[in-house]
This record gives sequence, C-alpha cells and structure tokens, in this order.
Amino acid sequence: MKPISLTRFLIEEQRSRRQITPDLRLLIEVVARACKHISLAISKGELGGVLGNAEAYNVQGEAQKKLDVLSNEILLEANEWGGHLAALASEEMEAPHLIPHRFPKGNYLLVFDPLDGSSNIDVNISVGTIFSVLRCPEGVTEPTAEHFLQPGVEQVAAGYTVYGPSTLLVLTTGSGVHQFTLDREIGSFVLTQRNLRIPEDTSEFAINMSNQRHWEAPMQRYVQELLDGKTGPRGRDFNMRWVASMVADVHRIMTRGGVFYYPVDAKTREKGGRLRLLYEASPMAFLVEQAGGAATDGRQRLLERKPEALHQRVPVFLGSKNEVERVTALHREHDAAAS
Ligand code: F6P
Repeated sequence: MKPISLTRFLIEEQRSRRQITPDLRLLIEVVARACKHISLAISKGELGGVLGNAEAYNVQGEAQKKLDVLSNEILLEANEWGGHLAALASEEMEAPHLIPHRFPKGNYLLVFDPLDGSSNIDVNISVGTIFSVLRCPEGVTEPTAEHFLQPGVEQVAAGYTVYGPSTLLVLTTGSGVHQFTLDREIGSFVLTQRNLRIPEDTSEFAINMSNQRHWEAPMQRYVQELLDGKTGPRGRDFNMRWVASMVADVHRIMTRGGVFYYPVDAKTREKGGRLRLLYEASPMAFLVEQAGGAATDGRQRLLERKPEALHQRVPVFLGSKNEVERVTALHREHDAAAS
C-alpha cells in the first residue's frame, strides 16, 4: 500500500468528517511544518550552535534554553500569517500573542509548549512539542488570556511530537489518535499507526520517585503498594520508567501502556502542581482519553477542569485506565475520610 502523508490523511478526514474544517487542516499542517524545522535544529545539536542556555528566564522563572527560545520563534513565525488563528499562547510567553494586523485572522486559538523536557536537550535525550487547539469565542477579535481559559473538553485538536531516534507526530482531532513518522528523505510526516490504543491494565509506572517524601498520604500508600510487588496487596511486580520528558513518557504509554504521575506535593502545593494545565495536561489528557486511557488530577477528570490562568499548574495522573482509576479512587477516599 502507498504511504499516506499527513496532508492526505487530513484531506480524507476533512471529506469524511465535517469537524475538520479547511482552516483546522491548514493549522495542523503549519504546526507540523514548524515541528519539522524544530526537529532539524535539534538534530544538529552541538554542530548547529543551539545547545546551552539562552541566558533568559520565562514567565515561570525557569531558565530558558536556546532551543526553547528558537522553537517558540519557529512556531510563532509559522503560524502568524496563514489566516487560521486569532491568537497563540505559549509556555515561553507571559501573555497571548495576537496575530499582527497586517495578516488575516482566523477562528482558532493555538496553545503550545514549544519544547517539552528541556532539561534533556543538552544530554541528547528525547524532547518534544505539545499543542492544543481551541475555538476563539464568537465575536472576539482581540483575544486576551481569558479567552484561552477553556476546559480541555473544548479542544478541537491536540498533539505532540517526539524528537527522538525518529521524529513522530501523534495527533487527535476527536476521532482516535494517529501516529505519523517524519520521513526525512521526502520531508513529510507519514501515517505509521492508526488508532493507537492504551491497554486498560499495566505493570509499568512513571513517576519522579525523588519527591516521594513530599507526596500526600494516598499517593504514598498507592506507590508503596506498587513497590511491594508480588508479595504485597497488588500481588504482582511493577516496573518503573522515568525519562523526565513528558512527551517521551506519554509516548511509551501510547505504545505499550503504563501510567504517568506528577502528583502535587509539599514543594509544589502553593503553585497547584508541577505541570501546566493548558499546554501540557489538557492536550495529553485529550490524547490519552481518545486512545482509551484515563486522565485525572488525582480527584477529577482533567478535561473538565476550567483553567483559572494561562500558566496554571495541576497534578497529572494519566495512562492505563484501571490504574488511573485506582489511584484517583484512593485520593477521593482519603478526602472523604478527612472531611
Ligand atoms: O516541564 C515539564 C517537564 O520537563 C516534563 O516534560 C517532565 O515530565 C517533567 O517536567 C520532569 O520533571 P522532573 O524534573 O521533576 O523530573
């Protein structure tokens, strides 16, 4: 069978399902093109002079890497002039970026983490881009941060790329999750997996164990049960993996199942958690649910959380359904007993 390019896949989806408008198709293609550019810059590494710190800080006080800044610029530049967007927001920018007046405006809002897992950039480990597409509320021509504050259920598309041994794009527009691999010789993303499914059960978990002593009681109890393995209450051994790039950890889960947890802990309680709701948790939750998994903040379905701020942080529990439901139930039981 002839390979199916992202372009062909989107055109066929547009024909068969009316949800994909020509503008949404253009938007996804433009994001994918920008990601090819980012992939190229990353693959040059030291030779491209792109490693190391940018000597600047983002709105959350994190030191920016040169590649964080470059990836953000690539995504901004690519998306400004196509006429498909009303505004963009990014992890790397405090406020939304409006489409300059010299360009036509569209009806979508794009939110992204241009380079997720930036602590892995300089050590040649997989990193990625995460994006989410929302509708611009009707009648709004100059969107502000407030217009981005929509719960994840309102997303019209979400996806991530993994810049790893191969560059992958994993996408949902609300009818399953599909994986494309960058064919560098022809310069196109090619469909390599249709309808990714996350198994309901798993024996593999991803968490930063160094935070253990700061976790809440139900989290302590749950992870202890996993660590107790065969001789403990769960009656089987569990394996642990932690890449420290959410895209890479989530992609492993998309491929062979597993769970990814970033709970709130004593260190991050004031901020609400570690990961950002709008451009990390929400798009990943949409993808994971579309692949048959579950995603909560430990208490509530992530996709139903209405963001209170552009850069709001939340706890994240996602992946194989039965395991996420179990850890969520433990948190709820703990809250009910406490009240
Ligand atoms: O900023 C997000 C992120 O880099 C994720 O990609 C990753 O899962 C997490 O932070 C790593 O956290 P830690 O530094 O605690 O391992």
